[in-house]
Amino acid sequence: MKQEKITDDVSKFYDVVWSKYIPEVEEQKKFLKRYLGLKNIKGKIILDAGCGTGVAAVSLKLLGAKEVYAIDISEGSLKTAKKLAKEHKVKITFKKENLLDLKLDKKFDVIHSFGVLHHTADCRLAFDNVLNLLKPKGKFYVALYLKTPLTFLQQSARYVLRKLPKQYWIPVSKAIRGLFVRGSKRTKRGFDDEGDMLDWFFVPQRTHHTPKELAKWFRKHKMKSKLLIAKTGRFASTSNFMMVGWK
Ligand SMILES: C[S@@+](CC[C@H](N)C(=O)[O-])C[C@H]1O[C@@H](n2cnc3c(N)ncnc32)[C@H](O)[C@@H]1O
Repeated sequence: MKQEKITDDVSKFYDVVWSKYIPEVEEQKKFLKRYLGLKNIKGKIILDAGCGTGVAAVSLKLLGAKEVYAIDISEGSLKTAKKLAKEHKVKITFKKENLLDLKLDKKFDVIHSFGVLHHTADCRLAFDNVLNLLKPKGKFYVALYLKTPLTFLQQSARYVLRKLPKQYWIPVSKAIRGLFVRGSKRTKRGFDDEGDMLDWFFVPQRTHHTPKELAKWFRKHKMKSKLLIAKTGRFASTSNFMMVGWK
């Protein structure tokens, strides 16, 4: 029951976030080109697990993927993602799926899942489920929130802030952005900083992990892994790290 409630709350949260903050496809393309490389995109059958606005799915297709599947639990996110695909005139297969109870019956050359698994009620189970969809010679690119000595403080701040009535969440996110972020309103993956703050402080579920922990999860599947990005943001404590795993 707890798991279902978390999934439902997270889904409703992203229905709102991803109808409001749409990232830039050009920035996302640069990011994917740099870290996945065109040889892992062109001609490949790719799954974007937890696609959100669809920015990565659309970018992967524009960069030459043969087929792209994009799945998410949030219907609002899928609606935004479908609109983005239409705007960019690309064909993507969208499906509503819960990563903790996957029904998708297809295998992929490449799986991409950025900032998703740690928002489920069971990050490890979501990881194992998604990995089951990888072809034997496939690659799994996964980004998770980094655990640092400040994680405890941030989770405590989140606990307090989430008690605010919902109408204050966006104004408070704007104010926090104003306090901590100077200059560009966009992250290097093309995301709006204000949306990032909302996501960071108000999401109903968030866990933090380490590259060592994720490497161990890959090893359980007899897979090798490599750290691609140690921190995706300005500060380690507010960043994801990104790894790739393969057999
Ligand atoms: C922080 S967003 C990341 C979206 C996208 N990957 C990106 O990089 O912009 C997390 C996404 O994971 C989705 N998600 C969370 N829990 C999920 C679950 N159990 N099954 C499928 N998707 C889930 C949310 O709906 C949301 O769109």
